[in-house]
Amino acid sequence: MLSYRHAFHAGNHADVLKHAVLVLLLNALKRKDKPFVCIDTHAGAGRYDLADPKAQQTHEYEQGIARWWHSTDPVLVPYLDCVRALNEHGPLRWYPGSPLIARMLLRPEDRLALLELHPTDYAALAAGFEGDPAVKVERADAHARLKAWLPPPERRGLVFIDPPYELRKEEAQVVDLLTESHRRWATGIYAIWFPILTRLAAQRFVERLAATGIRRQLVIEYMPFGEDTTVGLKGSGVVIVNPPYPLETELAALCVALEKHDGAARARVRWSVGE
Ligand SMILES: C[S@@+](CC[C@H](N)C(=O)[O-])C[C@H]1O[C@@H](n2cnc3c(N)ncnc32)[C@H](O)[C@@H]1O
Repeated sequence: MLSYRHAFHAGNHADVLKHAVLVLLLNALKRKDKPFVCIDTHAGAGRYDLADPKAQQTHEYEQGIARWWHSTDPVLVPYLDCVRALNEHGPLRWYPGSPLIARMLLRPEDRLALLELHPTDYAALAAGFEGDPAVKVERADAHARLKAWLPPPERRGLVFIDPPYELRKEEAQVVDLLTESHRRWATGIYAIWFPILTRLAAQRFVERLAATGIRRQLVIEYMPFGEDTTVGLKGSGVVIVNPPYPLETELAALCVALEKHDGAARARVRWSVGE
């Protein structure tokens, strides 16, 4: 039963973090001439209208993209440029999901491959990329389908894993997905988003990923309201396996940028598993 719809959450603080990281990762891959693939395992609808009743019901974007929209911080500008491009430099209304952000950054030789299970979001996603030869879209369960795509022919690229975590089993599924994917493609870059509902639960999840034995896991976490907030989604994080150079330095700059915006905000980057 799929009840999660990203339209309620589009552009929130978690999207700001995960999409800023996505842009840094793709731009790092573009530093080499060789083609790469970006695989987005939980792609969503691709594009969101912040004037839609779903976004207007939660107003989550107000604590996210709306606060950063005018930022000129160099580490955020490449991400914000993607959002601005969708709004044709007018007022903020449209928010790009991860597939659209990735598509904006691809070079002609690069490729995007998308999985989405929800029928409505899949239909919107497929319609948005119809006729685009650089983009493959499938309606499938990422946990069953991803393995067939690994290793990719390019042997370079990113697997972006952004599940809703609405089912209890999903954390364990993500650990298995990383383990199985890394076994097939050990040199790929993997970015796994996770929520911070409590510090302890988030820490346990990061430890479960670390316990896979997979080396080189870098973690960024962002809590926009500080530690003592009563808000449900206190923050979120991304675990990056095989982070490309110079991501660690860029994530440190991203932490500074994210904290600067609000005195209570906390952001940090650290290795959960080293070399
Ligand atoms: C957090 S949203 C994705 C947002 C998107 N990555 C973005 O950043 O714009 C999670 C998506 O995963 C989809 N989903 C849930 N379970 C899935 C599964 N097993 N395989 C593929 N997609 C799934 C949901 O329908 C939802 O659209």
